[in-house]
Amino acid sequence: MSKMKKYMLISAIIFLCICIGGWFYSISSPSYSHNRIISSYESEIIKLPEPSFNGNISVEKALLKRRSIRDYKDEPLTLEEVSQLLWAAQGITKTDMIDSQYLIHYRTTPSAGALYPLELYIVAGNVINLPEGIYKYKPVEHELIKIAEGDKRIQLSGAALNQACIRNCSAVIVFGAVYKRTTQKYLERGIRYVYMEAGHAAQNVYLQAASLNLGTVVVGGFDDDEVKKVVNMTDDENRPLLNEEPLYLMPVGKVIITEVEKENSFKALPEEFTLSQNFPNPFNASTIITFQLTEALKVQVVVYDIQGREVRRLLDGYVTAGPHSVTWDGRDNTEKNVASGIYIYRLEAKEKGLVSAKRMILVR
Ligand SMILES: Cc1cc2nc3c(=O)[nH]c(=O)nc-3n(C[C@H](O)[C@H](O)[C@H](O)COP(=O)(O)O)c2cc1C
Repeated sequence: MSKMKKYMLISAIIFLCICIGGWFYSISSPSYSHNRIISSYESEIIKLPEPSFNGNISVEKALLKRRSIRDYKDEPLTLEEVSQLLWAAQGITKTDMIDSQYLIHYRTTPSAGALYPLELYIVAGNVINLPEGIYKYKPVEHELIKIAEGDKRIQLSGAALNQACIRNCSAVIVFGAVYKRTTQKYLERGIRYVYMEAGHAAQNVYLQAASLNLGTVVVGGFDDDEVKKVVNMTDDENRPLLNEEPLYLMPVGKVIITEVEKENSFKALPEEFTLSQNFPNPFNASTIITFQLTEALKVQVVVYDIQGREVRRLLDGYVTAGPHSVTWDGRDNTEKNVASGIYIYRLEAKEKGLVSAKRMILVR
């Protein structure tokens, strides 16, 4: 055999070995097995409704309203609500071409190196037009891929120290993370970046839920291996199917308002925006100014002198609906005592164009 032929034969054998090795590696890798689960349900792709970009309330109001809620009504979520929550957590907001060849899809949350290590699942139990089951969220396509059938809420609650909120909700968003995506660039430090990113995404879900009048809570108390089994991150023998770790569970449901709360909120909610006369008036050391709001608003309460110059800013910020009071101690914004005289105090909610003002008398 000529030297050239020998050389070609050896190269062909090496090439063949590499191909067989690569194929063997790919079918024995966790993601291959997981992809098999996904492809067995391939026909079951659920296109999510387009998210809405016009919310019901301002960011400030959503922040004010955000609370961990663990009791929910036995009512279904809509597919629109599920779509909105998943979009808020990891949805695509912008697509760019890098170096004229790579597409990069930016998301609603920041991500170290734009590497996006988070993977979201929805464990659906009571959602209109979404059969009970577990679905993986695909942000770029804004769709769900079914990975398991049946209601898994009780199993998931069992994996989460039997926390009732996981059983009683309509659906649970499971936050998984592929650490390698971030640690291959940032090494050990990447681990903390992944935790931070789960925090960003979870807060987005809280705020979106507040805006949709839904209740949710972040649940970090669970057995990792048990959650992995329920969500198909591992198989029944605990062998990894994916290089994912679960980080958070967020049950979601419609908010229950108890009869007592309803009655209280009815009683507490004033019918009009009012500013009352300060008490005592005239005053010497300090006086109390009371006002009431029909809804949560950003308000200012400012004291002016008779020439209209600002003397003291008593309040500037968001305030809940209901009655409130502020005290003026007769000092200006620099903490100096002001002279005897007539002063005006003014309550203003600029976003609603509401203003009310009254006079008061300081006697030294
Ligand atoms: C990392 C982390 C883990 C949490 N785990 C749970 C949990 O397992 N179960 C639960 O009911 N609440 C959990 N919470 C929610 C807290 O209890 C809640 O945020 C706290 O009581 C403050 O209430 P707020 O969220 O309404 O402001 C967790 C919160 C954080 C930040």
